[in-house]
Amino acid sequence: MTTPLAARLARDIAATGPMTVADYMERCLFDPVDGYYTTAEPFGAKGDFVTAPEISQMFGELIGLWAADTWTRLGSPTPFVLAELGPGRGTMMADMLRATRIVPGFLAAARIHLVEASERLREVQRATLSSERIAWKVSLTELPAGPLVLVANEFFDALPIRQFARTPEGIAERMIGLDGERLAFGLRPGARLDEVAQARLAAASAGAILELCPSGLTMAAEIAARIARDGGAALIVDYGHAGAREPAGGFGDTLQGLRAHAYDDPLAHPGTADLTAHVDFGALGDAARAVGARAFGPVAQGLLLERLGLSTRAARLKRDASPETAATIEAAHARLAGPGPDGMGELFKALALVHPALDAPAGFAPDEEMGKVAA
Ligand SMILES: C[S@@+](CC[C@H](N)C(=O)[O-])C[C@H]1O[C@@H](n2cnc3c(N)ncnc32)[C@H](O)[C@@H]1O
Repeated sequence: MTTPLAARLARDIAATGPMTVADYMERCLFDPVDGYYTTAEPFGAKGDFVTAPEISQMFGELIGLWAADTWTRLGSPTPFVLAELGPGRGTMMADMLRATRIVPGFLAAARIHLVEASERLREVQRATLSSERIAWKVSLTELPAGPLVLVANEFFDALPIRQFARTPEGIAERMIGLDGERLAFGLRPGARLDEVAQARLAAASAGAILELCPSGLTMAAEIAARIARDGGAALIVDYGHAGAREPAGGFGDTLQGLRAHAYDDPLAHPGTADLTAHVDFGALGDAARAVGARAFGPVAQGLLLERLGLSTRAARLKRDASPETAATIEAAHARLAGPGPDGMGELFKALALVHPALDAPAGFAPDEEMGKVAA
């Protein structure tokens, strides 16, 4: 067996039968003994991946200014809850708080909450943000009531997905079982989906895979219901697609492992590789709209950041920088906003959920509202 968790999963499957992809992801990421986020240091050059806030301070600064601008559009409620889901090393929140010092009243009004499931990462965040007054929560449902400005970067892609395939015999769920002693994918026939998902997959071509993220939808609805009730807005940034709104229908297997900055077979290193799936922004937006919030986007990360002032910020930072530092800033600018496989600008997208009385927030245009029929 490749990892201690692989051996334990194989024993469990031999004893109780194949597990869903969602159960497998949950165990790989958060197993209390051998889970990836429980034990590994995933971030940075020595880790497995680099996220946007770790590439450059400019990302967190602009997201911070988005939060402060949104707070102003909400009528500057005091106090309000400033929350981040899945803060990793705490870098983005540190950059957000530094950048928003210039906004009168914002930090004094903010009750800052970080939602983090990993105790180990909570420790890292405590160290990064040691000078700030912050409360930690394990779950979104523990956030206090009141107006909410919430941000989440690369959080929803870590939530467990289920995968369903259209086969000649009907709809089957993709499962993880054993081939000899090795973990292997298989199909469990006779899967039942809700009416909308059933119809979507029934209309797809043979072999199509539909991914559903039940906990992501629950969380989007929870955030949206709070926003609709107490006022507020949320900004969700991640890699993903518009789901059923995509021209090709948003089908496909996007479960992927990431290890030492390279793609990895998702069954190869359970517990020692990161596991993610692309986010279905269309489904998150629909879940939010169903409980009374408005949804804008998804817009490409590059477009969002440029609209928020990335080029101006990069030029300002370069003005006082050495040639080496200026080159680093330029490279970070291209990585955050650029196209193609090396840039995050198109692959990553942003979705905004806002109170029904709020119009398009900064970075989004009015005609980018989800579900709005063009005039
Ligand atoms: C890929 S990291 C992103 C970190 C950070 N936002 C960044 O951009 O660098 C995912 C983060 O979400 C946290 N996380 C994943 N699932 C979670 C859950 N269900 N509840 C709370 N935190 C979770 C992880 O522990 C980690 O901090």
